[in-house]
Amino acid sequence: MHTVEITRVEEFSASHRLHDPRLSDDENRALYGICNNPNGHGHNYELHVTVAGKVAESGMVMNLTDLMAILAERVLPTVDHKHLNHDVPFLDGIIPTAENIAIALWNEIERELAPHEPCRLVRIKLHESRSNYVEYRGPSS
Ligand code: NI
Repeated sequence: MHTVEITRVEEFSASHRLHDPRLSDDENRALYGICNNPNGHGHNYELHVTVAGKVAESGMVMNLTDLMAILAERVLPTVDHKHLNHDVPFLDGIIPTAENIAIALWNEIERELAPHEPCRLVRIKLHESRSNYVEYRGPSS
């Protein structure tokens, strides 16, 4: 049987502020620049979620409709139109860089995918802008 990766792309809009409470205000400004703006700033994030599995008799790895539903109903509402520093329990105490958001979203999405084993989450790609994105392949990568 063939292993294939399938990807769903979604968008969400959110605001954040990059600020490390362990550092002084001057150190934060030096480290994070304009992303340390006291009242935050926004991004239109693009989230690519890739799942891998064997192609079943259905001809599918996983029904993309199920992946779409997980993201639309269980994941995106937790971050869309939220302030990532204040509104999202699973980011509490975490500096919401794209890297840290990708790791946190991995954990949320992986849990939702558990009923779809043996399909597995293999990659989260998070665009913070057209030019900047991060990729995360899970804790064992
Ligand atoms: Ni930013």
